[in-house]
Amino acid sequence: MPFGRPDSEQKLSYGGYLRVDDLTALQQLRSDPAQHDETLFIIIHQVYELWFKQLLHELDAIVTHLDRDDVLGGLRLLRRCHEIQRVLVAQVAVLETMTPMDFLAFRDHLMPASGFQSAQFREIEFLAGLAEPRYLESYERGSAQRARLERRLGGRTLRAAFHDLLVRRGFTADAEGVASLYRSAAAQMELFLLAEALLDFDEMVTLWRMRHVQMVERIIGGRPGTGGSDGASYLRGTVARRVFPELWEARNLIQGAERG
Ligand code: HEM
Repeated sequence: MPFGRPDSEQKLSYGGYLRVDDLTALQQLRSDPAQHDETLFIIIHQVYELWFKQLLHELDAIVTHLDRDDVLGGLRLLRRCHEIQRVLVAQVAVLETMTPMDFLAFRDHLMPASGFQSAQFREIEFLAGLAEPRYLESYERGSAQRARLERRLGGRTLRAAFHDLLVRRGFTADAEGVASLYRSAAAQMELFLLAEALLDFDEMVTLWRMRHVQMVERIIGGRPGTGGSDGASYLRGTVARRVFPELWEARNLIQGAERG
């Protein structure tokens, strides 16, 4: 594409293709007078939502690969998910440059909105295998967000796709089956690597939860959340939620390798 040409209807431009004007018009501050850090607060949430969209796109494709017994295809995209997750964890630090005073200067304008209502975050949890109907209550009946989550609730999950694959390859879909897979790792390298990659995915979700609650404590201490929960103590409770408990439980059953 030639540089320096203005947008025109005939020739595609960078800004036209990416809708940059639309994108940069989406940061509408609620504070008045405008508080400097509210721009950062909005942009970082929007960036998270864009990455959530990409993660959903990848996870759907991974489920399809696994259902077709294409483990390597699934692994390739799981690696991409891990890299995105690393970015999600790392960018918490950007928000930590905001002091408690800076945040409290505009926090009241956010009530009662909260990250708790992030439908794409819940969709990722549901699609991965952590589907809990109680989370639907945050969304109005008949709303598009609720409809998407309801579809996900009964839909195929990454965990179910992994379990079915285990069974097709002669293992039970539980901690015992995973331990048995690890004992035969040399002969089942592909499936073993998939189990490890799913564990990486789970670990990164947990790391994000840990970083998020630490950031929350740093910025608002023990205050209740804008969404109405009791804040950091609620969030601490979510850190224990695991997508693949059987992969963790199997660690109790695995023995040391015998090396010749
Ligand atoms: C100043 C920064 C932030 C503060 C003080 C904060 C605070 C909180 C609190 C207190 C909750 C618990 C629910 C509630 O009562 O509101 C929560 C939940 C949540 N927040 Fe944040 N948050 C911040 C930034 C972010 C960012 C940047 C994201 C990225 C999307 C995010 C995503 C979430 C999600 C997904 C939940 C639901 C977690 C769950 O239920 O497992 N938060 N947040």
